[in-house]
Amino acid sequence: MKLLSAKGLLNFNDLEKITKKPKLFAKDDGNFWQDPYISEHLLYAHLDDDSDQGSRKYDNIIQAVNWLCAYMKLPEDSKYLDLGCGPGLYSENFFGQGFDVIGIDFSENSINYAKEQAAEFGYPIQYLCKDYLEIDYENEFDVVSLIYGDLCVLSHQDRDKLLKKVYKALKPGGFLIFDVFTKYYFETREPDQSWYISEEDGFWSEKEHLLLQSHYKYKKDKVRLDKYTLIFNDGEMRTHHIWKHYFSVKRAIAMAEEHGFTVKDYWANLRGKPYEVGSPWIGMIVQK
Ligand SMILES: C[S@@+](CC[C@H](N)C(=O)[O-])C[C@H]1O[C@@H](n2cnc3c(N)ncnc32)[C@H](O)[C@@H]1O
Repeated sequence: MKLLSAKGLLNFNDLEKITKKPKLFAKDDGNFWQDPYISEHLLYAHLDDDSDQGSRKYDNIIQAVNWLCAYMKLPEDSKYLDLGCGPGLYSENFFGQGFDVIGIDFSENSINYAKEQAAEFGYPIQYLCKDYLEIDYENEFDVVSLIYGDLCVLSHQDRDKLLKKVYKALKPGGFLIFDVFTKYYFETREPDQSWYISEEDGFWSEKEHLLLQSHYKYKKDKVRLDKYTLIFNDGEMRTHHIWKHYFSVKRAIAMAEEHGFTVKDYWANLRGKPYEVGSPWIGMIVQK
C-alpha cells in the first residue's frame, strides 16, 4: 500500500489506518515468519544465546528437555513431533534423548538451517517445511510439542483447528507439551505508540524506513497485539501484527480439556518450576 497518492500527496485515509486499533485477528500485510528477509533475522534471534527473543537460551532448552523426558519416561525410539521447530533446538535434544523426531516449521530459512545441522552431525531427524495447520497424522506420535507460545499467536479458530489435528496425530496416551503466556507477561506493558527511523538492514527491512509501533489490549478476549507499521521513503507502507493470547491456569486447563486432553501437570516453565501467581508463563503437559 502507498501512503502517497499519484499526485504525491499524503493519503490521510491510510494514515488513519495506521493509527486505528485493528479488529481482533485482523489480517496484516504478510506472514513475517516466512518473509525471506525477516526470517533470516529471526533465525539469528533463535540462535542468539544472549537473548530470549526467538528461542529460549540453550541451557534452558537442555534443562527443559531433560526435565520433560524424565517426567514422561517413554521408551527409546518413541516418536516426537516438534511443531514450530524453528532451527531444531528442541528436535536435536529430543533426538539426543533417544526419540525418533520429525520437526515442522514453515520458515524455509529455519528449516534449511536445521537440515544442515542434522546433516553435519549425522542426526536422522526429518525436517519438513510446511504449515503445521495443514498436518494430517493419525495415531502416530508419542509426544507432540508447541513450545515458546505458539498456541498464543493463533486466532481462536486456528488454535482449535490445530489442537484437533494434534489430538488426532497423537497415539492414545500420547503427550502434548506446550507453554502459554499469562497476563503477568504483559504486566509492564500498557497500550502505547512509539516510533523510530530504522536505518538500512534493520530487523524488519533492508531498506531505511519509519517504524511505528503500537501495543493494543483486547481485554474481553484476553489478547494483546503488537502492531508494526513500516513506512518507506517512496510512500510504500507495510503492517505486521503479532497477536498474543494470554491464559490463566483455569483457562489453559479448560482449553486442553475441551479438546479431549487430560491435564497431567503444569508449571511456571517447562523445566518444572512450581507455578505461582505472577508467573509470566504456564508450561503444561497434557495427555490423549
Ligand atoms: C517462537 S518460535 C519458537 C521456535 C521453537 N519452538 C523454539 O522454541 O526454539 C515459533 C516458530 O513457529 C513457526 N511457526 C509459526 N506458525 C507456524 C505455522 N503455522 N506452521 C509452521 N510453523 C509455524 C515459526 O516459523 C517459528 O519458527
